[in-house]
Amino acid sequence: MTVKERLEKLNVPSPLEVTGKRATTVEEWEKIKPIVREMMYKCEYGYIPEKPEIVSFKVIEVDERFCAGKGIRLDIEITSRINGEDFTFPFTYVYPSKGKRIKTFVCINFRPEVPDKYIPTEEIIDNGFAIASFCYKDVTSDDGDFTNGLAGVIYKNQERTLYSPGKIAMWAWAAMRVMDFLETREEVDLDCVTVCGHSRLGKTALLAGISDERFACIHSNCAGCSGDSLNRGKQAGTETIGNIIDRFEFWFCENYKNYYGKDNETEFEQHFMHALIAPRPVHIASAEEDKWAGPELQFLCCAAASEVYELYGKKGFVYEEDDYLNCGKMLHDGSIGLYFRHGNHYFARDDWHGLIDFINKKF
Ligand code: GCU
Repeated sequence: MTVKERLEKLNVPSPLEVTGKRATTVEEWEKIKPIVREMMYKCEYGYIPEKPEIVSFKVIEVDERFCAGKGIRLDIEITSRINGEDFTFPFTYVYPSKGKRIKTFVCINFRPEVPDKYIPTEEIIDNGFAIASFCYKDVTSDDGDFTNGLAGVIYKNQERTLYSPGKIAMWAWAAMRVMDFLETREEVDLDCVTVCGHSRLGKTALLAGISDERFACIHSNCAGCSGDSLNRGKQAGTETIGNIIDRFEFWFCENYKNYYGKDNETEFEQHFMHALIAPRPVHIASAEEDKWAGPELQFLCCAAASEVYELYGKKGFVYEEDDYLNCGKMLHDGSIGLYFRHGNHYFARDDWHGLIDFINKKF
């Protein structure tokens, strides 16, 4: 079966057809794009919290001799004023000591450490990139407690309703605040800021990407279910919407629960995320042993989104039929990149190499 036939068999919906009439030009697509974005917020993640009234940055520590003097490290606190109240979270920014118009990452991470097992900082600097990263739990806890951190501020005088933000939307909002900081930096190439994250934080990176056009490129690492994998066509051993709601319902809006057990019938699909990112480049990393994330559905998700990039006159997802579930080749010719590597669920060096290769080809 060809990849196209697989998509047809799954009856994958097209984001171009959400209004009943197919958008056939960029103008028509851009008109319905807000409807598609709204769909993803209302069905799945909840609305991203609003832009703060004021944002300010405080440098807490400076290390001018970071990584044998190759980089400069700043530890910073961001304070956002929301409903008259201040909310602060920390992040770390590292940039090469030499260079202008530096390509930069915003990495939403599991831990605050820099470097970290998921962030090979020295290698990133050696490749000429800067990176700003933060620990998602410093924004709000990864559980059903909506009284701490950003959640505590947002829900102070307000109930959670059907479409209110879940935790993923809050972590995505935080990545946008780090972007606010990067906008103040002369050395950053603002035309090449990539937001990235692994697993639940890959889902978060995608959501940040559809919500904020300042992210010129998006990288989702092994995000899988409710991220970079199609809902339709799941095999045993691949996470379903029911599985994710059973353990992590707080990542999403309340309304997502209505899709429990309905993976094959959702009116939205996960490639709507890629479509909403278009024409900006999007890169996906998937891993051979990560069956839970569904590598075949990550591949098909890329293929399904291709038509929207093509509308913009771009090459979308470029592959040969043989590439389907074939490990080790970087599919980086189009604006949708996929690197399917050996190994398991992890944000590996190999993933960074794939990502950096992709960015250097696109920018
Ligand atoms: C669980 C969850 C996944 C998620 C992963 C992670 O495995 O089921 O959806 O991507 O955690 O974030 O590590």
